[in-house]
Amino acid sequence: LTKDRYPNIKRGDYAELNQNHLDYFHGLLGQNRVLSDPSDCEMYNIDFIKGVRGYSQCVLKPQTTEEVSKILSFCNQHRLAVCPQGGNTGLVGGSVPVFDEIVLSTSLMNNIISIDNISGVVVCEAGCILESLDDVLREKGLMMPLDLGAKGSCNIGGNVSTNAGGLRLLRYGNLHGSVLGIEAVKANGDVIDCLSTLKKDNTGYHLKHLFIGSEGTLGIVTKVAVHGPSKPKSLNLALLGLHSFENILQTYERAKNDLSEILSSCEMMDERSLDVVTSHLKLKSPIGDFPFYMVVETSGSNEKHDEEKLNAFLEGVMSEGIVADGTVTNEPGKMRAIWDLRERITEGLLHDGYLFKYDISLPIKEFYSLVPKMKERLGSDASRVSGYGHIGDGNIHLNISVPEFSPDILKKVEPYVYELTSTYKGSISAEHGVGFRKPPYIHYSKSENAISLMKDLKKMMDPNGILNPYKVLPS
Ligand code: FAD
Ligand code: MLT
Ligand code: ZN
Repeated sequence: LTKDRYPNIKRGDYAELNQNHLDYFHGLLGQNRVLSDPSDCEMYNIDFIKGVRGYSQCVLKPQTTEEVSKILSFCNQHRLAVCPQGGNTGLVGGSVPVFDEIVLSTSLMNNIISIDNISGVVVCEAGCILESLDDVLREKGLMMPLDLGAKGSCNIGGNVSTNAGGLRLLRYGNLHGSVLGIEAVKANGDVIDCLSTLKKDNTGYHLKHLFIGSEGTLGIVTKVAVHGPSKPKSLNLALLGLHSFENILQTYERAKNDLSEILSSCEMMDERSLDVVTSHLKLKSPIGDFPFYMVVETSGSNEKHDEEKLNAFLEGVMSEGIVADGTVTNEPGKMRAIWDLRERITEGLLHDGYLFKYDISLPIKEFYSLVPKMKERLGSDASRVSGYGHIGDGNIHLNISVPEFSPDILKKVEPYVYELTSTYKGSISAEHGVGFRKPPYIHYSKSENAISLMKDLKKMMDPNGILNPYKVLPS
């Protein structure tokens, strides 16, 4: 581990941590909530896909907004850089330090403040784990409006800061719609209280949106108010096998039309993606082998009505030869087993070796175009080129597996993958964010003037640039 392993990135002009700084943090948080032993700091320095690694010597674990405010005010005065971290499940290297930034972990800010059964609004602290929130809401007949494979460890503050999409965005929309209010702390320690629980509030600029998706570069989210929809009374899940990508498009169109208001998820994966979980994680697929698969979920309030609709849809697409085979279930255990095949691809891919990971939005007809193009371009250089994702949202995850990192393969992949995306008028980051991995490429999806306005905003909100430096914006 060398301090200059990112040759194109220089450490900013920040102070280095010293004993006086640590004394202040100990005074504020006590000994237990300040980690400075290198082995304790290790897991906060490395990201989920083990592609970005920092060497922070200090992890802070505040429990209140006031503590976050005091930490940031102190860091701002002393020019100490800070990396906000939630569950550290981010996939673009945004959640870990690049050099020696102090890690501010929200993991101990995990109280639920209120749940309104009638409106469905939950107000909670940023460090609440998504799945725990969902469990609590489900007991009250509600649910969280987002779901993703990392639900067991990602935090709602991290979800909001990345504007995470996930498996049911097609039904419940993204967090810009579901998040009703936010409390955040600016780099200078000012607390911005926009923790409204109202659905409608047009009093001036909608400041909460600045924090949704800004990946910890404009402020630290400390509390959120989220609208939780009603938990569906009837759930069905189908796993389908298909012969071509054209069949996926036809099936998606039919699902939208035939299932309409009960369609709650429409996902796809290719055979190499399914192979990741069957080979590496030893999961079993309940259907035969096909080049493509889809997971289609319905959620509604009337079992008979939903089943009738789903059966009619399935009979239609199967009798017309659009879908080759399939299985449908409403048993919780079997539904979980099907979801695992889709949700655990990310985890399974880590067993392949090194991963070049892309999260791309494309016009629906071009959704799968990058996978065969990349496969052909790389030939035997890649051990696997796989594509899976949220077909209902036009968002594919292209993953290139290689036994180990190679700069020559990187040169073949980037910027080609971004150029291609831009040619198709897609986005180089659909839902994971820009983080540390993509700032040099943001211009493929944003105009010069838009980037310049983003930089102005950053300067205004964080003039010393202490919040999550080297992330999101190109230098
Ligand atoms: P972290 O990884 O800790 O941080 C993410 C970013 O947010 C960083 O830039 C960090 O600095 C910033 N941040 C974190 N907390 C705060 C805060 N309180 N205030 C300000 N900034 C903060 N993403 C999707 O969109 N859809 C998916 O379907 C999906 N599936 C996934 C499946 C798996 C198995 C994994 C490992 C990841 C997946 N992700 C997905 C990516 C990731 O889970 C999401 O980006 C998630 O929202 C990150 O939450 P986190 O708490 O882990 O945040
Ligand atoms: C997913 O949809 O599974 C996630 O976004 C994670 C990934 O891209 O692997
Ligand atoms: Zn995804």
